[in-house]
Amino acid sequence: MNILVIGNGGREHALCWKIRQSPICEQIYAAPGNAGTSLIAENVPIGINDFAALGKFCLSKGVKLVVVGPEGPLVNGIRDFFEQEPELKDILLIGPGKAGAQLEGSKDFSKQFMLRHHIPTAKARTFEASDLTHAIDYISTCKPPIVLKADGLAGGKGVIISLSQGEAKAVIKEMLVNKKFGEASAKVLIEEFLNGIELSVFVLTDGRDYVLLPEAKDYKRIGEGDLGLNTGGMGAVSPVSFATAAFMSKIEETIIKPTIYGLIQEGIEYKGFIFVGIMNVGGEPYVIEYNARMGDPETQAVMPRIKSDFVELMVSAANGDLKNKKVEIDEHHAVTVALVSGGYPGEYKTGKSIRGLEHEVDALIFHGGTKKQNNNVLTDGGRVLAITGKGNSLEEARNQVYQTASQVYWEGLYYRKDIGQDLMNYKG
Ligand code: AMP
Ligand code: GLY
Repeated sequence: MNILVIGNGGREHALCWKIRQSPICEQIYAAPGNAGTSLIAENVPIGINDFAALGKFCLSKGVKLVVVGPEGPLVNGIRDFFEQEPELKDILLIGPGKAGAQLEGSKDFSKQFMLRHHIPTAKARTFEASDLTHAIDYISTCKPPIVLKADGLAGGKGVIISLSQGEAKAVIKEMLVNKKFGEASAKVLIEEFLNGIELSVFVLTDGRDYVLLPEAKDYKRIGEGDLGLNTGGMGAVSPVSFATAAFMSKIEETIIKPTIYGLIQEGIEYKGFIFVGIMNVGGEPYVIEYNARMGDPETQAVMPRIKSDFVELMVSAANGDLKNKKVEIDEHHAVTVALVSGGYPGEYKTGKSIRGLEHEVDALIFHGGTKKQNNNVLTDGGRVLAITGKGNSLEEARNQVYQTASQVYWEGLYYRKDIGQDLMNYKG
C-alpha cells in the first residue's frame, strides 16, 4: 500500500518511521516532509492545504491511505474535499472532516460539546467583542488565576493565564478588540483555572469503536522547572506514572466514551485521532482541550511504544472496522527531548549546520525543523530535532536520550535537561 503523510514536523517523521515498519506499506510519501522524512519516505513539495494538488498526487501514485499530521488541513476540510471528489472518495484518510475538527478548531464549540454530553471540563463563558463590558464585569467575579482562550486556532499561543483580574481585563481587550490573535480571538473563553498535572491521551477511532494508544506527558514551557513561555512542547514521556489503570478507566468512562457517543449523537462522522488534553485534579480527570490529531512531541514518545502494526490499525479506523482491534504496547519507557533553535519560541535564526548526526546511536532521532542542503542538514525551524531514548525505566530512557543529545551540536542549540525528572519521584 502506498501511503501519504501530510506535514513536516517531528510528529510526521515519527509517523513515517512507524509506518515504514509495516509489511503492508510499500511506498511512503511525505508532503512536504523534512530532512528526516527524506531518509525513509519520498518528500513531495506540495503545501499541506493544497488539497487539489494533494489529491492529484494521490491519484498519480496510487496512494491508498492519507495520514493528516497537523490540524490546519483538517480544520480547512481536507476530508470533505476528498469525499466530494468522485475520484478521491475511496482513498482512506485518517482525520475528521470539518465538523469533527471543530473539536480542535473552535474552543467554544468543544466547550459546548462537553457541556451537552456532561464531559468534565473547566467552567467557562464565551464573549465576543460586542460583549466587552459584560466580559469585563464577568472577570470582576472570577478568582485568579483566570484562563483566557482564543476560540480559534492560534498556533498553540492562544491561551493566556492571568494572575489578577486587572491583567485579565487588559488581556481580554487585547484579544477581543485589538484582535491579538486575528480572527482566532473574535471570540474568547474566560475559563476557570484547573490546578493539577497534565496528561495527553490518544484515541484512534472509526467513529464507533476506538483504541487507546500509549499515554504521554508533555512539557510545554521553554524553561526547566516548567518556567517561561509556552512552546509547542519541549519533551514528552510515556508511560506516565500517575496514569494508573484506575485513572485511565475513569478517563474512558467519563471522557472518551461520552465523546465518541456525543459525536455519533450529533451526526458527526469521525475517523481519526482524538488527542485529549487532560488535567488530573486530585485524581479526577478534566478535559483541557481536544485536538483532532496526534501531539508533537508526544508522537515521538508514543510511536516507539506501539508494537502492533500501525498501518493495519489506521486502515481499520478509516474503514470503520476497529471493533475488537487491540493495540499491543511495549512496556519500555520512552523519553523524548526537543532540541530547539536558540530564541525559540520567540525569534530565532535558521540555516545553522547540524553536527553529530553521523554517530551510531541507540536513541531515535526524529527531525522537526530541518532541511538538506548538499550533504549538510541545516536547522529550518524552532523545534529542530526530537530525540527519543528508551529503557527499562524512566531513568534508563533519560540517560539514553541525554547521552545522544550531548553528541549533537549547532550554534544556538537549546534543550531542557529536566524532561521526565518530575515523574522520577512523583507521588500522586
Ligand atoms: P491549550 O492551548 O488549550 O493546550 O492550552 C495551553 C496550556 O494552557 C495547557 O496545556 C495548560 O497547561 C494550560 N491551560 C489551559 N486551560 C487551562 C485551565 N483551564 N486551567 C489550567 N491550565 C490551563
Ligand atoms: N504537544 C502538544 C500539541 O501537540 O498540541
